[in-house]
Amino acid sequence: MSRPLDARTVLLVIAGGIAAYKSLEVIRRLRDKGARVRCILTRGGAEFVTPMSVAALSGEKVYQELFSLTDEGEMGHIRLARDCDAVVVAPATADLMARMASGQADDLATAVLLATDKPVLTAPAMNVQMWQHPATRRNVATLRGDGVQMIGPAAGDLACGEVGPGRMVEPDEIVAAVEALLSDAAHTLSGKTALVTSGPTREAIDPVRYLGNFSSGKQGHAIAAALARRGARVVLVTGPTAEAAPAGVEVRRVETGREMLDACRTALPADIAVFAAAVADWRPERPAAGKLKKSGQGAQGVSLALIQNPDILGTLAQAGPARPSLVVGFAAETESDAARLIERAAHKRASKNADWIVANDVSPGTGVLGGGRNTVHIVTAAGAESWPTLDKTQVADRLAERIATAIAEKDAARGAPAA
Ligand code: CTP
Repeated sequence: MSRPLDARTVLLVIAGGIAAYKSLEVIRRLRDKGARVRCILTRGGAEFVTPMSVAALSGEKVYQELFSLTDEGEMGHIRLARDCDAVVVAPATADLMARMASGQADDLATAVLLATDKPVLTAPAMNVQMWQHPATRRNVATLRGDGVQMIGPAAGDLACGEVGPGRMVEPDEIVAAVEALLSDAAHTLSGKTALVTSGPTREAIDPVRYLGNFSSGKQGHAIAAALARRGARVVLVTGPTAEAAPAGVEVRRVETGREMLDACRTALPADIAVFAAAVADWRPERPAAGKLKKSGQGAQGVSLALIQNPDILGTLAQAGPARPSLVVGFAAETESDAARLIERAAHKRASKNADWIVANDVSPGTGVLGGGRNTVHIVTAAGAESWPTLDKTQVADRLAERIATAIAEKDAARGAPAA
């Protein structure tokens, strides 16, 4: 029976953290899935697990030194970096991530990480203060921008006795992430470009106040990440959110609806466009130049004159040479009745000229706005399909999968070569 990682080679870098003991389990499970596992043990890593255990479990020689005559003779560090399908760093310590982020190559692990042209997945593990330190935050952002994928850390009791994020995720999660990274799906959108909008917009009332909404950007960011994982070049145009930039995605940050429209126009042409942002429908007609004062407004308060913002989806989905070949919009409704929700979404699909609309009920009781889960209905020309309640990352994955299938069908219909 074939296994998911048959004929795949994973290069596992084990750095010096207490979580290194879990890496032994990662080796075992990767091999169970059919992978060949080669390991680099850093000097720190060897303080926690022995080369003997790593060699016994991997069934391979363990690589430890950059300047080892025998190792360089048998398998130079450049070959080590290239003769694999993915590099996994588990545990990834604060120190190793700092050295990766600054492009150092002062030991075998960092030299290989700098020399590799393969996808890199890191599983950070460290004390909570170290994880939250601005220096680590900077390094994580740099690594993400370099296309390095991160998994975890998980929150919980740490070996040092403190509680919080910092614990390495469990071996089965790391193995699942490797499978996802190496699955055939990883390339279904290579050569394609995608534009994704995400998050809220802010429309100024005066220099210190704005109109906004509760959108967190979680769903849009997850969609951008899922499309990038399938090999698409993704531009994510996002309003202000606390979400981190997804791995391998070009992020353009904007504040207002009009800035979002401009950034989207600049990002075109694209094969795929997904409009997940909660764009403010109205903006104050004349934002005050100075801070509005309470005095002089009277007890009735103040009225704001609002005018409509441009409809980004409605504008960019109109027929024309720049129209992406697949345009996906969202419909955020406060409507718990699925049939009525779908009906409204179908209306939005037609009025905005979108190909698909992802409809969701965002009423406060659903916890969708700002929460981690979503219940969606996919409305297309063929009708509606209702999905179960899923994590937003799962919704994103399913949607990206469906997008990849639709794009492949369009290519096949045009007689274009598949990605
Ligand atoms: N959208 C957009 N620009 C706007 C408003 C909405 O691009 N100015 C997009 C959203 O990103 C989403 C779709 O249009 O993909 C529908 O957004 P939604 O807020 O559900 O609908 P509206 O068009 O704003 O209509 P209404 O608020 O009346 O339901």
